[in-house]
Amino acid sequence: MPYSRRRFFEYLAASPACFAATEFVPAKPEDAINVLDFEAAARKKLPPAHFGYIATGVEDDYTLQANREAFRHYQLRPRRLVDVRGVNTAVSIYGRTWDTPILLAPTGSHHAFHEDAELAVARASRSRKTLQILSTASTTSVEDVNTAVGDPVWYQLYATSKWAVTEKLVKRAEAAGCPVLVVTIDLPTGRKTETEIRYRMQDTRDCLACHPKGGLGTAGFFTRKPMFKGLDMTGETLFAPALTWESIRRIRQMTSMKVVLKGIVTREDAVLSRENGVDGVVVSNHGGRAEESGRGSLDCLPEVLDGVSGAMPVFVDGGFRRGTDIFKALALGARAVCIGRPYLWGLGAFGQPGVEAVIDMLRKELTLAMQQCGTRSIAEIKPSYVQRASA
Ligand code: GLV
Repeated sequence: MPYSRRRFFEYLAASPACFAATEFVPAKPEDAINVLDFEAAARKKLPPAHFGYIATGVEDDYTLQANREAFRHYQLRPRRLVDVRGVNTAVSIYGRTWDTPILLAPTGSHHAFHEDAELAVARASRSRKTLQILSTASTTSVEDVNTAVGDPVWYQLYATSKWAVTEKLVKRAEAAGCPVLVVTIDLPTGRKTETEIRYRMQDTRDCLACHPKGGLGTAGFFTRKPMFKGLDMTGETLFAPALTWESIRRIRQMTSMKVVLKGIVTREDAVLSRENGVDGVVVSNHGGRAEESGRGSLDCLPEVLDGVSGAMPVFVDGGFRRGTDIFKALALGARAVCIGRPYLWGLGAFGQPGVEAVIDMLRKELTLAMQQCGTRSIAEIKPSYVQRASA
């Protein structure tokens, strides 16, 4: 090999770029260095079609990326010389206290990622005293999940295209003891999950061998989801194009559960949420899997907080991968943050221990950020601890 080429490869081997090029795949949860390592482990373990479902955004995945980039738009303002030996990450929401402000966002189809499915997530949330929000599209029933957690979870509602079905889902969640109904409002019609399609094309297995009942279409989807058992879903979809503020008022009247709207990204809709008497909002673009707005969740958070004017707690999801990301959202005014993909990577790669390791990792990083900034409790994390980065 000519001298210059050899020098070039020596340089590459010694450079951080080389670490980036060779993907590290942890063999066990405790080997992971950060939560992104769980993504590599899940990618290796899961069938491409299933991993693609987690990975996908919509169209160019631009909003998915914008969610991550938004964290760079804010910087920390660390304060010095504070005794930070005892740091407490507990957070109180609707009169309940959780050990961390890191909530598990509703995500569907856990059985596609691990045989223990939503029960593995339930057990992890129980052991880590953090909140699980269960998706309508779960592969385990709300009753079984509540038993595994030992306490009713929050229930996420897809209103579906049929009001009678919506009513039954709400009543079932309420009968199961769920204290909070999280209504997803950002998917009125369809979406183009192009990354998912591309991953599926790489999958050489016969999907129907595992999904014989009802096939891969909507009918099969409902057959595999226990929350739709006994409901007539013929010709129905999870989308609800006719959903309006009037529907939210009807849902509000239908239940004594607290009602939280998931998918608010503007000041105008935050004001309407307040006027329509809901109990909370989640600033969310569905992890970049709804519309391709190109706006990161964290960038939407300040205007939503402004519109809500302190009338209710504001939660946020979208791209949280670091303790500092969580710290920034809390400093801007979020009550708690929700994570989705990171715990699904943990689930897919290692089951319950993987989910626990992801929560532990983020909580450890959040604790570190709190100590570095001189904040000892979540309540002490104020807007003065962050600033908008100059352009
Ligand atoms: C479900 O909520 C999904 O985004 O697929």
